[in-house]
Amino acid sequence: GDTPAQGINRSIGPLDQNRADGGEQALSSNQGVAIGDNQNSLKAGIRGPALLEDFLLREKITHFDHERIPERVVHARGSAAHGFFEAYDDLSDITIAAPFRQTGKVTPVFVRFSTVAGERGSADTARDVRGFAVKFYTDDGIWDLVGNNMPVFFIQDAIKFPNLVHALKPEPHHAMPQASSAHDNYWDFVSLMPESTHMLLWQMSDRAIPRSYRTMQGFGVHTFRLINRVGDAVFCKFHWNPLAGTHALVWDEAAKLMGADPDFHRRDLWEAIEQGAYPQWELGLQIFTEAQAEAFDFDVLDATKLIPEELVPVRTVGRMTLHRNPDNFFAETEQVAFCTAHVIPGIDFSNDPLLQGRIHSYVDTQISRLGGANFHEIPINRPVNPLHNNQRDGMHRQTIHRGRVNYEPNSLGGGCPHQAGYLGYASFPAAVDGEKLRAKPLKFAEHYGQARMFYLSQTGAEQRHIIDAFRFELSKVQTPAVRQRVLANLANVSTGLAAAIAEGLGMVMPPPAPVSGLTVVPEYAPSPALSLTAR
Ligand code: HEM
Repeated sequence: GDTPAQGINRSIGPLDQNRADGGEQALSSNQGVAIGDNQNSLKAGIRGPALLEDFLLREKITHFDHERIPERVVHARGSAAHGFFEAYDDLSDITIAAPFRQTGKVTPVFVRFSTVAGERGSADTARDVRGFAVKFYTDDGIWDLVGNNMPVFFIQDAIKFPNLVHALKPEPHHAMPQASSAHDNYWDFVSLMPESTHMLLWQMSDRAIPRSYRTMQGFGVHTFRLINRVGDAVFCKFHWNPLAGTHALVWDEAAKLMGADPDFHRRDLWEAIEQGAYPQWELGLQIFTEAQAEAFDFDVLDATKLIPEELVPVRTVGRMTLHRNPDNFFAETEQVAFCTAHVIPGIDFSNDPLLQGRIHSYVDTQISRLGGANFHEIPINRPVNPLHNNQRDGMHRQTIHRGRVNYEPNSLGGGCPHQAGYLGYASFPAAVDGEKLRAKPLKFAEHYGQARMFYLSQTGAEQRHIIDAFRFELSKVQTPAVRQRVLANLANVSTGLAAAIAEGLGMVMPPPAPVSGLTVVPEYAPSPALSLTAR
């Protein structure tokens, strides 16, 4: 009778084999030489200069000098915990993905929550999107579900991501403002990028000031594919729903907490786990076919759109529990490397052009953030199933490969790893045909229908919060033309919303921005599930 938590604590041996306790051990150098005096450097005479030969002084100072590594280029501030995922059902008719292969299957996870814009030392409760990244240590390798706490994103194509992030980070000449979207560069960019309107509504809503990491939803955002044993595929969107409910702060609380307790969210997560109040989320899947996708009035490859639950219900398939804090923030939370390219048999990508770019970006940035090509050997990043290949060498290689042969195929190696054939990862053989081109798909051109749906789904108090947030943020913007363009875009969402913001800013309402492409008025009712107070 192990509980799942006990079982997991025993089964993640490969993750744990590098943990160390200092305790009452003798102090030693990195070369294992005992240190007799850790207070006085070696000097020429009692008041004389330090000696170059003091290898103990030099080793200690040199290591200290190199303690810092670059922070993540986005999502620099975060907090993480260990836990496990339990499958409610056997989903093998839909996917062969290991976590869903049998009822009750337990898979270890490591989850990192983060803000996006702020630097590593910034405050937790800033108005921002939150990252929700889950690393599953499955029987078939690592699967990372690298999501956010909002179901949509600012842009439709990865080629715009560096521009988005440059605009939202501190302005480059004076590096202000820190961890805030309240500045001209940010609003200039989004005002010129009407596809960001839906996400802007979420960002100005209560969703951007969560009460705690424990009370946030998580979303994979993109459309993915699930593949079963006979090779059939369906499309899928991933949703995490907190069992404690989805709750937000109000702006005045968030603003005060930024000063009074910048670690508010970190502390809350840490203390809940220390006290045994383990946070839990249920995983939901929205599963749909390619034929259904064709019939929607939006494109399922467009990350600025969600799939209303009225069109595709969410099926709850399992539960995640976070039950153990990391032993060391740097070794685990800072060095963990999530990547959308980390998929396992049974899970595949869609052609979402934002997702396609992300598949490249994560490992690429981690090569510089974590110093070389071997960061998959850092304990927190290692799969718990065995791994064998012919990749060799590089900075800080840990594994000592035995034997003469490091290539495949070979006839000399005896024990060399060989291809797994049909047991290996298989991409879904989606048909691809067309000309090479740089262009937007037709249904990507509509930007306001779902933004309106989101706004209308909010209660009166929540709509008021959205208006107040736009007023506050835009009141910091110096350039009148930028504010006008934002209002002109919002006029296409709701004239009431735009007029209320304009009034607060003492501005005359501009005419609505010209609408390119088809304007789609959603036929489905606004989903009450989107509203916090209705939950
Ligand atoms: C972190 C790139 C869109 C969620 C990062 C990092 C990069 C990046 C370079 C830092 C990774 C590291 O240093 O370890 C991109 C690009 C995007 C994109 C190029 C679009 C083209 C998104 C979207 C989501 C997302 C749409 C949510 C669905 C995250 C999360 C992290 C992250 C949660 C933090 C992971 C952690 O906790 O370590 N992203 N991102 N990103 N991104 Fe993205």
